[in-house]
Amino acid sequence: MRVKSEDEEKFMNKKIAVLAGDGIGPEIVPAAVAVLEAVGKRGGHAFEFVHAAVGGQAIDDTGWPLPDDTLQLAKTSDAVLLGAVGGPKWEGLDYERRPERALLGLREQLGLFANLRPAKLYSELADASTLKREVIEGIDVLVVRELTGGIYFGKPKGVEATPTGHRGFNTEVYTTEEITRIAKIAFDVARKRRRLVTSVDKANVLESSELWRKVVIEVHKDYQDVELRHMYVDNCAMQLIRNPGQFDVILTTNLFGDILSDEAAMLTGSIGMLPSASVGASVGMYEPIHGSAPDIAGKDAANPIGMIASGAMMLRYSFGMSEEADLIENAIQAVLGQGCRTGDIAAPGTTLVGTKEMSDRILQSIG
Ligand code: IPM
Ligand code: MG
Repeated sequence: MRVKSEDEEKFMNKKIAVLAGDGIGPEIVPAAVAVLEAVGKRGGHAFEFVHAAVGGQAIDDTGWPLPDDTLQLAKTSDAVLLGAVGGPKWEGLDYERRPERALLGLREQLGLFANLRPAKLYSELADASTLKREVIEGIDVLVVRELTGGIYFGKPKGVEATPTGHRGFNTEVYTTEEITRIAKIAFDVARKRRRLVTSVDKANVLESSELWRKVVIEVHKDYQDVELRHMYVDNCAMQLIRNPGQFDVILTTNLFGDILSDEAAMLTGSIGMLPSASVGASVGMYEPIHGSAPDIAGKDAANPIGMIASGAMMLRYSFGMSEEADLIENAIQAVLGQGCRTGDIAAPGTTLVGTKEMSDRILQSIG
């Protein structure tokens, strides 16, 4: 067997499934693809982008939000880049046929139990936040959200008829194994950061949270170099806007993580800024944390930064290309430094640009 030279090892071929989806998805995804292509070229890598339908777009084409072809493509790619799904057009459908099901299906089928949502403030945007500069200055929070368990997937669930009307129900359920594996991820990433994990639960009321806390304490025994704190979710929601600087890694359940990550996003100025990585198995999925924003779709008004930064997370977490990921993040910072802003982060004295121009400027800044 011929041994590859070090130079050859550095150059990689990667197949990326591109699922643009609905609303602003098709406007922001091309920006991330162009940026990935540019950094790939610079680093000598060959990225192959294969597009497929997902969400409402797939419902219109096939009747189902996650067609088999799309799922197969995702499973046989090295990573998945996803825009957004959903919109008013599909809101009346049964739950099983709604666009959001595609996301849940991909997470479940790909085994992506860990969702990493970093809320880091670009100092240029301190004045774009609804909170005071002194509260948010320097914040760098990572929400580690459990993604394939809890009330999103728990059974029994449903709506049933009763003599007096209906009864709707879902089940919040976590097993030792599910809590252990997500806790390990949180402690592992904390070791690369400020070594502080705040585990968020509702252990004063919920049995599933009582188990959550017990298991997290158990897992922590192997991570004595990391500090562990516990916080109830209501208090965490308050502390995030009172003093977000106290957080490094927030470890939490699927539902609490969904809610707290939107709140954490607003600390950074706009939900349009936040990327995410869903990992846990061989194929990772990368998407901005915001939704399809149908109100601004097609108007060249969406902020592409969360999407582009998701591409950077893909390079870092799925492909181990941290230098290339830095290139993208530095380009975003540089363009913000030039005073370029989409509407969601606009401030007096800055230049208002559309999706296309923001994307082009970031691309140019990569060179
Ligand atoms: C998110 C979204 C999704 C979720 C929806 C669209 C299913 O809000 O990724 O945060 O609830 O997980
Ligand atoms: Mg959400």
